[in-house]
Amino acid sequence: MGKYIIAGNWKMNKLPSETYDYIKEVEKATMGAECEVVCCTPYVCLSEAVRAAKGTHIKIGAENLHFKDSGAYTGEVSADMLCDLGVDYVIIGHSERREYFAETDETVNAKTIKALEKGLIPIVCVGESLEQRQAGITMDFIAIQIKKAFAGISAEDAKKVVIAYEPIWAIGTGKTATADQAEEVCKGIREILAGLYCEKCAKEFTIQYGGSMNDQNAAELLAKPNIDGGLIGGASLVAAKFAPIVAAAK
Ligand code: 13P
Repeated sequence: MGKYIIAGNWKMNKLPSETYDYIKEVEKATMGAECEVVCCTPYVCLSEAVRAAKGTHIKIGAENLHFKDSGAYTGEVSADMLCDLGVDYVIIGHSERREYFAETDETVNAKTIKALEKGLIPIVCVGESLEQRQAGITMDFIAIQIKKAFAGISAEDAKKVVIAYEPIWAIGTGKTATADQAEEVCKGIREILAGLYCEKCAKEFTIQYGGSMNDQNAAELLAKPNIDGGLIGGASLVAAKFAPIVAAAK
């Protein structure tokens, strides 16, 4: 429904000195891609990533940002800093940041608003834990995450946001959601967006699936009507594994 976007999330992997060559490898391996191809890298790799991606079809993203413009926030990175480097995308509210770095629905909302204000494309992550899935509250929990993430954001701005559905139990576990499970939640997310905005707007959102997506399962997931792309962790670290996922998105 939305534009197809395949984004790699390198997490805390790869060195600045490896970045230029690796982005060039991804560029070659994904030549002729029929979707948007994004590599989200650690902060310290971004300038090399942007340098390598310049003039190519690859877009570069960060994995986080701070919601303030500037100031006494030791160790943090602002939207202006990312824009100044030439970064286009930013991941917001990844479950690892929610779990280990005190990210909340409120900071996700503030970061999403700031990214939009500065012209960065936010990739907002939502997803349930195994306990929540087993308790049958997946959609209730995700509805809260989505409503809070989009609080105070107009329909016009909201449509620029990419949503990544990442069930926590499928991240880095090799345990992918089945295509039907992923589709069910992505469809539910679109219904929530239709309620918050409008039916027509909801169709324009890119909704990605993330969680052990790989060259074996990507085609089946991406064939589902409400899955418009992927947010790829482990498989984005090897060009030969990332490229088939990109090729499956058309
Ligand atoms: P894996 O693809 O390694 O499961 O990670 C998914 C993810 O968290 C992407 O943001």
